[in-house]
Amino acid sequence: MNFVTSLWQWLVEIIVVILIAAAVYVRNNKEIFFLSWQLPGPPAWPIFGNAFAFLCKDEDLFERAVSFTSAYSSPMRFWFGPKFCIVITDVVQAEKVMSSIKFATKDKQMYKFMAVFNGEALISGSGPKWKRDRRLMSPLFLKRNVIQYFPYILHHMKILVKLLEEKVDQPTFNIEHLIHRCATDFVNETIIGVETNAQGGEMENFLENLTRMYTVVYARMVKVWLQVEWIFRFTKYKKLQEDGKSVLHGFFRQAIETNKQTHVCTTKDDESFRNLLQQMLDIRNDVPDFATDEELVHHLSTLYSASEDTVTTISSFALVLLGMYPNIQNKVVEEIFSVVGDRDVEEADLVKLTYLDMVIKDVLRLFPIAPFIAREASQDFQLEMARSGKRPNEFYPEHFLPEAVSKRHPYAFLPFSAGPRGCLGKPYAYMAMKIILVTILQRYAVEADGKLEDKPLKNDISVRFKDEIYPIRIRKRTKSEKAFFK
Ligand code: HEM
Repeated sequence: MNFVTSLWQWLVEIIVVILIAAAVYVRNNKEIFFLSWQLPGPPAWPIFGNAFAFLCKDEDLFERAVSFTSAYSSPMRFWFGPKFCIVITDVVQAEKVMSSIKFATKDKQMYKFMAVFNGEALISGSGPKWKRDRRLMSPLFLKRNVIQYFPYILHHMKILVKLLEEKVDQPTFNIEHLIHRCATDFVNETIIGVETNAQGGEMENFLENLTRMYTVVYARMVKVWLQVEWIFRFTKYKKLQEDGKSVLHGFFRQAIETNKQTHVCTTKDDESFRNLLQQMLDIRNDVPDFATDEELVHHLSTLYSASEDTVTTISSFALVLLGMYPNIQNKVVEEIFSVVGDRDVEEADLVKLTYLDMVIKDVLRLFPIAPFIAREASQDFQLEMARSGKRPNEFYPEHFLPEAVSKRHPYAFLPFSAGPRGCLGKPYAYMAMKIILVTILQRYAVEADGKLEDKPLKNDISVRFKDEIYPIRIRKRTKSEKAFFK
């Protein structure tokens, strides 16, 4: 037998083994394959599934995913390599899945890449530990607890509005860059328990590594080949992951050490300021197995990215849109001057800023920070359908007038997710975003070029403008303008 004949024989044997393995796999999973053939969805390859659909630049992944989900009715099928997924875009179907504790388990394959940084903490964890941690930590996120952070957020915002003086009547600049640094400082002070000076330029290495973390986590979630450990090891992402983790975890470890030294467990009705880390140390005092130091690092890493990135991005989107749509900005400013006037915004004002609330909600609707949420289905379920929404692609805060809200399915608007895995940070987020927007809009008129549709989006761990620039110009509000709005 010559070399070519034995090579052929060898190849045929491999193909036969693969075919037998595939046949066994299909037989063992016949219900899934049967369901897959019944559902609409893009044609898939054996083994690779629809993985080739994501062979594109990182910044084009979001558009690819959206084009798939809008091309087929819900529920649609999608194969992430050999993994079968059902994609739901219908609100009634979403309610069925998201409201049930039976579907509270996060998809392990997706979230394990986040778990590299965030361990089994609240967003990436599941099961009894997540359930216990969520129960213990939920009170820390209630409005009555997070309201103590109001003056700290306002303090850092006052530094930001001072820095903005330099931008008055200047060409377009990226507002996200400045809000990002301000939010870093207030999140660090209120949640992580350390005072930082990102607004003075002292956190740049940390912030660079944070961006790396988002890039790696998202790339591994959607690019099936990066999920194969030995392939991943040879890519640029491996180094990004190692460097990112070492810098971020180093920072959080240091915060824990500092807070452990100053931490004094106080009575439950003590009203003095306690950052969130100190409150987690309080929990550990009561429930000793609540979290090891390493698990606290994971909680801080989770809470940092869950809070700082989301609040920064949504506030930046809001300012660009208000710059693009001056009529809407005028209505917001009119409300701000009638409720707050020229003084510092106070806690009691927030609830009265109802139009601003509608604006923020419409921004959250247009730019859902987590547009894809993955859950594991551990049992069979039936789905039904519903329709939703008028003027879906317009910035139209009136979508959130009480009468419009009452006519809509509650699961038609899910920026904070919902059900047992819903966002815990909603009260903190609304408070922070309102302080940011009021403090800026009180002092400056914002301008931005173009319209909503001129700025395409991308997605890493959050939705962002594709070019990552949130361009605005600002002008100081004159006395007569303020008087006009009052
Ligand atoms: C505009 C701001 C925010 C938006 C749009 C938002 C949105 C979300 C979404 C969609 C989820 C579910 C994620 C998933 O299932 O993969 C989530 C979870 C979570 N968020 Fe937020 N979030 C925001 C701000 C915050 C803030 C400020 C904090 C903390 C102070 C926070 C803490 C959390 C936590 C702890 C979870 C995990 C809940 C669990 O799975 O048990 N979020 N958030």
